[in-house]
Amino acid sequence: MIRLFVAIDFPETVRERLAALCAGVPGARWVDPANLHLTLRFIGEVANPVAGDIDAALSGIRMPRFGLWLRDVGIFGRGRGVRALWAGVAESADLMRLQAKVENAVCAAGIARETRKFTPHVTLARLRGASAPRLQRFVAEHADFMAGPVPVERFILYSSFLSSSGAIHTPEAAYDLGE
Ligand code: 2AM
Repeated sequence: MIRLFVAIDFPETVRERLAALCAGVPGARWVDPANLHLTLRFIGEVANPVAGDIDAALSGIRMPRFGLWLRDVGIFGRGRGVRALWAGVAESADLMRLQAKVENAVCAAGIARETRKFTPHVTLARLRGASAPRLQRFVAEHADFMAGPVPVERFILYSSFLSSSGAIHTPEAAYDLGE
């Protein structure tokens, strides 16, 4: 079995911009800058032959490269249920098209269709018990965050291994977008 997800990775300059946001909230577990990504589809545990089918289906995706803007920051969850800090993604028809193609490919490989709405974001930190005023201050301080255009020239099939020190993400395959 292998735990998989499909995501867009970022050039180093963009990761640096995102990593620069990652401070100032005691109790936040910041994502390692090397692991910052935009998830297109979380797949979860699959048997190895299914992983091969997913890879084959993703290899068939044809779409031109595009640019994306990251902007704004926010919080998932409320009150005691706050779960994560994220950087947002400006509305993008290209991104939605790519995500739909990935969803269709994953389904063609036999995985059940995702029922949750796609909410594009880049998780910056996972939270447990961070103070509400500090979170509000973080959001206010970075309300004008903007980075881009981020070139999206490929997407990646990652495996995710859950270790005691957090998830280890390994790129298993990369799929280039066209000119
Ligand atoms: P997140 O960034 O919002 O936490 C790898 O775990 C990636 O898949 C993460 O980016 C995570 O999104 C996303 N993901 C979506 N659903 C998930 C789930 N049920 N379990 C773990 N990760 C999930």
